[in-house]
Amino acid sequence: MIKKIGILTSGGDAPGMNAAVRAVTRAAIRKGMQVYGIRRGYNGLINGDIFEMNERSVSDIIQRGGTMLYTARCPEFRTEEGVEKAKEKCQELGLEGIVVIGGDGSFRGAADLSAKGILCVGLPGTIDNDIACTEYTIGYDTAMNTVVQMVDKLRDTTQSHDRCSVVEVMGRGAGYIALNAGIACGATYVITSEIPYNLDAVAKKMLESRKTGKQHFIIVVSEGVGHSEEIARTLQEKTGIEARTTILGHVQRGGSPTVRDRVVASQMGYYAVDLLSQGIGNRVVGMQSSKIVDFDIQEALSMKKPFEEELYHIAGEIAF
Ligand code: ADP
Ligand code: F6P
Repeated sequence: MIKKIGILTSGGDAPGMNAAVRAVTRAAIRKGMQVYGIRRGYNGLINGDIFEMNERSVSDIIQRGGTMLYTARCPEFRTEEGVEKAKEKCQELGLEGIVVIGGDGSFRGAADLSAKGILCVGLPGTIDNDIACTEYTIGYDTAMNTVVQMVDKLRDTTQSHDRCSVVEVMGRGAGYIALNAGIACGATYVITSEIPYNLDAVAKKMLESRKTGKQHFIIVVSEGVGHSEEIARTLQEKTGIEARTTILGHVQRGGSPTVRDRVVASQMGYYAVDLLSQGIGNRVVGMQSSKIVDFDIQEALSMKKPFEEELYHIAGEIAF
């Protein structure tokens, strides 16, 4: 029986991480475990920035964005010495299991620590939804809702000025936020790195829509494509329609988590503790066909996530 576990958040923060921390803490306490919060990702594990939590430590956080455990990127943990130090700290404190909430990078770290005999379970926490083994990552829904709210506001001014707004959204290399938020705000075109694009075709579509009376345009560009300023300039040159660029940036990572993020974080957090309580580690928790499942970390990291090409097609067909 596992008696003591730790929990940390790592990499970019995501709304719903707090809900996951709460679920892990409470589920573990219910099972009679002691729970330790580890601050600032793997840094806290290496430096011993660790504190015991009780059921009240996670009160009043389910509705908050960010992460009460803080997060960080920890270059030292990418080294053999860093992982060894973390293992020694776990042994010193008697931490037998660690729940790591983060993205693929954080899971690579969790695999290294698992290889040293510490039971690690990863929970997918990133707004990007770019983790292959899961159809959903904690934070994705909130981020998309933020994008939609922002673009709805942008649309007001874009419409008043008969302009084109080129909106760059986050997603590191992945276009899931761009596509899904794009379809949800009626973007004329979604430009992502997964699908080849051609600015002549975008300009042609805008001009054809102009002929039918459409006066303003929203073009969503994913961060992976980048150079959204240049895209706006080129579209303006090709169409004669005044264009402006908005890079939404880190606002997309904040805010109170949506119902979906709170529920999924709670389910996944509970599931992670269940695995640890059975002595199971080296796993990543995910969602497949709306069910919570788990995978070996290496297997999870080797999987490829398909892009939603059909949705991309639909988005294009209904925006003109
Ligand atoms: P994310 O988890 O969101 O993908 P990062 O890629 O920045 O974010 O990774 C977060 C942290 O996970 C890194 O700062 C590092 O401590 C750890 N990490 C990332 N990649 C590796 C790796 N290959 N081996 C060991 N640890 C890693
Ligand atoms: O992975 C989440 C994310 O917000 C990406 O969409 C983005 O590329 C990256 O993190 C930004 O990271 P940073 O916090 O280092 O600016």
